[in-house]
Amino acid sequence: MGDPAAEAARRRTFAIISHPDAGKTTLTEKFLLYAGAVGEAGAVKARSGRRSATSDWMEMEQKRGISISSTALSFDYRGMQCNLLDTPGHRDFSEDTYRVLSAVDSVVMVLDSAKGIEPQTLKLFEVCRDRGLPVITFLNKYDRPGREPLELLDEIEEQIGLKPTPVTWPVGISGDFRGVIDRRDGGFTRFTRTVRGSAIAPEEEVPAERAAEEEGSAWSSAMDEIGLLAAVDASHDPETFLAGMTSPVFVGSALTNFGVRHLLDAVIDLAPAPAPRPDVDGEGRGLSSDCSAFVFKVQANMDRAHRDRIAFIRVCSGVFERGMVLTCGRTGKPFATKYASQVFGAERTTVDEAFPGDVVGLVNAMDLQIGDTLYVGDPVAFPPIPRFAPEVFASARPIDTGKYKQFRRGLEQLDSEGVVQVLRDPLAGDANPVLAAVGALQFDVFADRLDVEFNAPAEISSSPYEAIRFTDQTSADRLREVGGVRILARSDGRLVALFESRYRLQRLEQDEPGLMLEPISVGV
Ligand code: G4P
Repeated sequence: MGDPAAEAARRRTFAIISHPDAGKTTLTEKFLLYAGAVGEAGAVKARSGRRSATSDWMEMEQKRGISISSTALSFDYRGMQCNLLDTPGHRDFSEDTYRVLSAVDSVVMVLDSAKGIEPQTLKLFEVCRDRGLPVITFLNKYDRPGREPLELLDEIEEQIGLKPTPVTWPVGISGDFRGVIDRRDGGFTRFTRTVRGSAIAPEEEVPAERAAEEEGSAWSSAMDEIGLLAAVDASHDPETFLAGMTSPVFVGSALTNFGVRHLLDAVIDLAPAPAPRPDVDGEGRGLSSDCSAFVFKVQANMDRAHRDRIAFIRVCSGVFERGMVLTCGRTGKPFATKYASQVFGAERTTVDEAFPGDVVGLVNAMDLQIGDTLYVGDPVAFPPIPRFAPEVFASARPIDTGKYKQFRRGLEQLDSEGVVQVLRDPLAGDANPVLAAVGALQFDVFADRLDVEFNAPAEISSSPYEAIRFTDQTSADRLREVGGVRILARSDGRLVALFESRYRLQRLEQDEPGLMLEPISVGV
């Protein structure tokens, strides 16, 4: 049996964040190619194709042609184990995407060089900042015409306040990408394209003198830019990177594989290994102490035939062994881990042993909820996983009024799982609840599960609200007199005010500054 601290040291648990189409899937695939986990690029897509052919897991997933569930992918590279957690990249995302970020130690932020920071990158980055996660930046698609890298660096600094510190710098303009200079040692790597990027791009280390001769003006421009970067002291700094203040930047093309190896090396060399996770009192549970973990995602109905429910845990300390009995901190109940698996899409392999930083799917996890701490030995409680500020709202009612009981049970359960947040009128009880979510896709998942699991088909209609604020009892009494405002309560009892118009909210804030109207920021 391995030593948990030593095993943790050889792990990197990370996620890739990006706006849809920036190249996350392509990059994931190329990581697998460089790690030798797939022989030829194209395997990931083939795999997902096979999945839709053989599994009826979440019919919606197929209808929409997107991946709703997050997956965890492990591969070995340079003697280290990389655990890559997928953040679903579709436009319409959900809290799931955010929660994955509570289970990683660093992220790779992929930007399309032609587009720079896009809305979803920004949202996901805000969660990273909130968690103080170290961010490695990849300027992707440099093989085709795009924006100037220096301009992109300015945009990163201005829009997200993260100081970019380029580690590699391109030779050749975007669209005529020859290779990269590693600013740490000045070495120039020239790449050669392979057919459709399906194999590793051949690399040639070219000495500066020869590069200057052969690359001509592309080389001198790169040298000028590197001079500028040195002048503003934009060099990688481990301390500020680990504190989430600066971000090492790599330039490349996931499609042609240029710069992919440098990036993957950075995940190993720069990104942090799993560290002791602080508990609710801020004390870290040592990596070598007894096994502890927390649930960061619950997925039901992955396999309709078995009506199962998988809780994904991240191991925080000790050795997880399949078959061990863990205690759930919230309920105090034992949980037998006979069916522990690693899940990639709908494919599962059994996991016999896991270490800090690893993700394990626990099958038949009926009693487990997101945020639950599991442990053996000394009890521990990890902080709850934050809920996120809702941005879209809907109302729900059972289509068959005879199914009201099932409908209520479903609301209760799906609220506790965090599929949507259920807001109720404290004066009217369960009637006419408002559903709140980060993305509208959550409502579809909610309706689907109400129907399939609770036999309570529901009609979901969008609600006219544009903004939400925390409020208190006194302000609530006043707000009830105002048109276009509704006072509701979350399941944790906190009062919220929903506004049909942002403008109305702004006016109220100006005209009645005494009202308690507190924005719900990420993580509350
Ligand atoms: P996502 O997961 O972030 O949504 O992006 P994905 O990898 O699916 O990439 C989106 C599109 O961008 C794909 O093209 C992909 O081939 C392309 N792409 C990714 N990386 C690069 C790159 O470095 N350079 C260039 N030029 N293109 C890149 P598509 O036409 O939508 O799909 P496909 O037909 O190529 O599969």
